[in-house]
Amino acid sequence: METICISLGGSILIGSEGLNSSYIEKFLDTIASYKKFNFIIVTGGGEMARKYISFAKTFTSNKQELDDIAIAVTRLNAMVLLQAAKRRLDVNPNIITTISDMKVANSQHRVAISGGLYPGITTDAVAVLYAEAVQARKLINISNVSYVHETSDIKKSKPIKKMSYDKLIEIATKYDSRNPGSNFVFDLVGCELARRSGIEIYFTNTEISELRKILDGKLHNGTVVGV
Ligand code: UTP
Repeated sequence: METICISLGGSILIGSEGLNSSYIEKFLDTIASYKKFNFIIVTGGGEMARKYISFAKTFTSNKQELDDIAIAVTRLNAMVLLQAAKRRLDVNPNIITTISDMKVANSQHRVAISGGLYPGITTDAVAVLYAEAVQARKLINISNVSYVHETSDIKKSKPIKKMSYDKLIEIATKYDSRNPGSNFVFDLVGCELARRSGIEIYFTNTEISELRKILDGKLHNGTVVGV
């Protein structure tokens, strides 16, 4: 069965107003309805990860330790999503923390959920690592913005509909500072890994109709890379 990897931004799950349960329900219902696919869902840390990094910075400037704290937050988010998924889906009963466990979970369950893996990367790269591991062709990046823009000032720069890996890498290189909790379009390591394995990346916002279009193989309102 074909596997689709989804990198789900942490702020989509838990925003400034708290848990986004109505989105989580709609999202999981959609996943449940596409029975022809297996899914790997990787949750980000969102604002909470950045908050915890800033708390920890009071006591340490060690970047790996700060990353570890943020990884813990991505895993907390994964655990919350897992509770919602367990009610309606054949999902691996624990969150995944290694690539080898993901391979097993993917072969045994329709859905497997993970947060981050190692210091030095973000959950975007984790989603690409899993895609490589299970030979998934498509990765969907769900965040608050549906298009990759030429510059970080999205109001002043044009959204790009279709993009090569090289272009995405050029943009990511400009903005990826690799600092714990820094926010940018897509992890540079993830871009490079997607390019080497030809994994298609679909950027979309939280509109369920757009997610459905991607899963149906139709044109959606968002950036596609490597297609
Ligand atoms: P995220 O993946 O949540 O960052 O990782 P993001 O892309 O900004 O995601 P969202 O959309 O806002 O959720 C947050 C931080 O966690 C650490 C890094 O410090 C990263 O910046 N992290 C995450 C790791 O070190 N390793 C991982 O595998 C994942």
